[in-house]
Amino acid sequence: MEELSLRSLELSDFEHIMGWVNNPEIVSNFGWFGNPVSREEEQRYLERLIASPTDKVYSAFFGGEYIGQVGIHERDDRNKQGRLSIIIGNKDNWGRGYAPQMIDALLDKAFNDLHVHKVWGVFLEQNKKAHRLFIEKCGFKIEGLLRQEYCRGGAYHDMIRMAMLEDEYWARAWERADGGDQSVS
Ligand SMILES: CC(C)(COP(=O)(O)OP(=O)(O)OC[C@H]1O[C@@H](n2cnc3c(N)ncnc32)[C@H](O)[C@@H]1OP(=O)(O)O)[C@@H](O)C(=O)NCCC(=O)NCCS
Repeated sequence: MEELSLRSLELSDFEHIMGWVNNPEIVSNFGWFGNPVSREEEQRYLERLIASPTDKVYSAFFGGEYIGQVGIHERDDRNKQGRLSIIIGNKDNWGRGYAPQMIDALLDKAFNDLHVHKVWGVFLEQNKKAHRLFIEKCGFKIEGLLRQEYCRGGAYHDMIRMAMLEDEYWARAWERADGGDQSVS
């Protein structure tokens, strides 16, 4: 059976990333400022990202095919936390069930390898897909509403701040390993 795999971001992922980085349909929920990113800028950005002590980015593959990126950013070693990111770089791969698997795999890395206490993230309040994905399917808890946090298209938008704590991750991992079996032997 084909499986999802994550590996650390490499410069060899450059062409994959150039395939989506200037596509507003893919990046419009964050960081699309209307100016295309040049190959030189992206190359320098990737070099910085790979060397960064506060970012840990992974490339996701399914059955060997490049799917996208997940990452932990703004790592704060004192408070042991970091911000989640996820992107599936080709719209043909949306709606195929990859996203929850990518998030679960990232959470495994974050809590087991990076030893964070908390993974947090933000999404636009009107982004119903993100609500379904992060809150309802992947077990993140809402921490609050960030009022007029994000300016896009000349308007300010509210954002939801969400997080998962270490003990919530382990409780969920335990529940899933157990298959939800409530029987007593
Ligand atoms: C965010 C992203 C990774 C999600 O992956 P995806 O494959 O598109 O997600 P899915 O289609 O599996 O949707 C996730 C869930 O939300 C549901 N959903 C989709 N659109 C919805 C909507 N408008 N309202 C309510 N639920 C919705 C889906 O049905 C699915 O739930 P289900 O599995 O129970 O049916 C992907 O769309 C992406 O890369 N987007 C661009 C980058 C981005 O926006 N990153 C996140 C920033 S917060």
